[in-house]
Amino acid sequence: MISLSDLRRFKAEGRKFSCLTCYDASMAKAFEIAEIDSILIGDSLGMTIQGHDSTLPVTLEDMAYHTAAVRRSNQHAFIMTDLPFMTYATLNDALQSAKKVMQAGAQMVKMEGGAWLAETVEVLTRNGIPICVHLGLTPQSVHVLGGYKLQARSRAAADQLIADCQAVVAAGAAILLLECVPAQLGQEITELFPHIPVIGIGAGVDTDGQVLVVQDMLGLNFGHTAKFVRNFMTEQSGATAIVDAIKAYHAAVLDSTFPAPEHTFQVEL
Ligand code: KIV
Repeated sequence: MISLSDLRRFKAEGRKFSCLTCYDASMAKAFEIAEIDSILIGDSLGMTIQGHDSTLPVTLEDMAYHTAAVRRSNQHAFIMTDLPFMTYATLNDALQSAKKVMQAGAQMVKMEGGAWLAETVEVLTRNGIPICVHLGLTPQSVHVLGGYKLQARSRAAADQLIADCQAVVAAGAAILLLECVPAQLGQEITELFPHIPVIGIGAGVDTDGQVLVVQDMLGLNFGHTAKFVRNFMTEQSGATAIVDAIKAYHAAVLDSTFPAPEHTFQVEL
C-alpha cells in the first residue's frame, strides 16, 4: 500500500503521481487494477453522488461511509478523505471529525483553508493525523469566493497564497493541494517546498501530483466542463474501457502529457 513516505520519495525522485476522486468499491477496484497512486474521497460526492449543487450538504457520516467502502476494495492507493463543511471549525470538532474518517480507513485528512488553519493542522498532526491543506479555489467557501473561478490572478494574491502555504507547512501540513490557480504559481509553490508533495487540479503541469474528479475524466459530467478537465474515455472501447481510461490517465500524469497547455491557466504574475 502506498504511504505518505512513498509520495515524498516520488517527489524526491521527480516521479509524478496520480490521484483521482473515488467514492465506491467498484471504482476503487478499477483504480487498484490501473495502479492509481492515491485516492481522494472528496466531498465533491455531494455533487457527483448525491446530486446537490455544492459540497455544503455533505456530512461527516457520508465521508466515513464512502471512505470505508473504498478502502475495503483498494489495497494499493494512498487514501485521503475530505473533512466536510463546518466539521473542523473548532479544534475539538476537527479532532473528532478526523478521528472518524481515519478510523474508517483514511491515511490522511484534507481540509480547505490557509494560514488561519495553522493551529488546527498543528494539533491534528501532533495527534498522529497527517494533513493535506487544500488552497486556491476552495469549494466549501464558494459563497465567499463568489463562484468557482480562477484564484490568485495577481502577484499580490499569489504572494498571499504562498504565505498561506508557508504557514500551514510550518504547522505540519504534509501535502498541499492547489485548485484553479495560474500554472506559474503551481510551479513556484511546488519548487518552494522540496519535501512537501504538491497536488494540483487546474494548477499546471509542474505540481508533483495531479487530481481530477473521476466522473469528469470519464466524461460523465453533463453540465459545465472546467478548463482543466480532460475526458480520457474518448479513445476507449470494449468491456475494459473504464479501466483503460483510468490507466491512460495514470500514464499521462506520470509522463506529464496531462495537463496539456489547454488545461492550464497561463497568467503572467
Ligand atoms: O472534493 C473534491 O473532489 C476535491 C477535488 C476537486 C480536489 O476537493
